[in-house]
Amino acid sequence: MLQITDLRAGYGRIEALHGISFEARSGEVTCLIGPNGAGKSTTLLTLAGVVRATSGQVRLEDRDLTSLPTPEIVSCGLSLVPENRLIFQGFSVLDNLRMGAYQRLRTDPAGVMRDIERMLTYFPPLRERRSQEAGTMSGGEQQMLAVARALMANPKMLMLDEPSLGLAPLVVAEIFEILQTLHQDGVSILLVEQNVQWALSCAQHIIVLELGQVVFDGDPDAFSASEVVQQAYLGRRDNGS
Ligand SMILES: Nc1ncnc2c1ncn2[C@@H]1O[C@H](COP(=O)(O)OP(=O)(O)OP(=O)(O)O)[C@@H](O)[C@H]1O
Ligand SMILES: [Mg+2]
Repeated sequence: MLQITDLRAGYGRIEALHGISFEARSGEVTCLIGPNGAGKSTTLLTLAGVVRATSGQVRLEDRDLTSLPTPEIVSCGLSLVPENRLIFQGFSVLDNLRMGAYQRLRTDPAGVMRDIERMLTYFPPLRERRSQEAGTMSGGEQQMLAVARALMANPKMLMLDEPSLGLAPLVVAEIFEILQTLHQDGVSILLVEQNVQWALSCAQHIIVLELGQVVFDGDPDAFSASEVVQQAYLGRRDNGS
């Protein structure tokens, strides 16, 4: 579905992605893991058109997204929930959700209303707080809003950069439960997650990035069986992993 071929990107003269290739398949949760600085966020930002690719190709179904501006990439069906969540702090929950559907606010107001209702069902805490200023909500509620807002664009594939960051374990569990529900409802997901146990619990496909290169690509069973991976990612907690 989402096909990344030999993608290179970076910041100025520094190349962060050295020609990565992988596929995120339709109906699956694909999880991108790897150490700090591996290029996980850069990968999502490049797919979203925020960081420009210097070479390589990104295709979503039959569309070439590689040099499109971000709003067009969103229109093609690829939405990103970035690491810093980027919600509109001073606006209400409902206004944030409307803004997530800005591309069809005028043309399809009834559809937008229906989708807002759907989001409030997926994320019950947001229903209670629908008139609250987004910036005054808890971190977990803001993360839910960021995910809901991205979903308002009706993406074919939803990308999330470390949705668990800075959240208490119970809240993380809640977010992951919602991701599971979305997946069961047919949303394809490309997830960056540092916590390997969480990644393994929800993904059908694991990609490991190290120093801007793909070093593993396979299913969770193959991942757990791989010796190199075991040492680096499934090691004992007392050695810091
Ligand atoms: N805005 C930037 N300007 C310059 N270099 C950057 C910038 N953002 C990231 N980098 C560099 O690009 C490389 C990849 O960073 P990236 O943020 O993609 O890693 P990551 O895998 O998401 O790491 P983390 O797990 O810490 O979030 C790193 O070497 C980083 O220092
Ligand atoms: Mg990152």
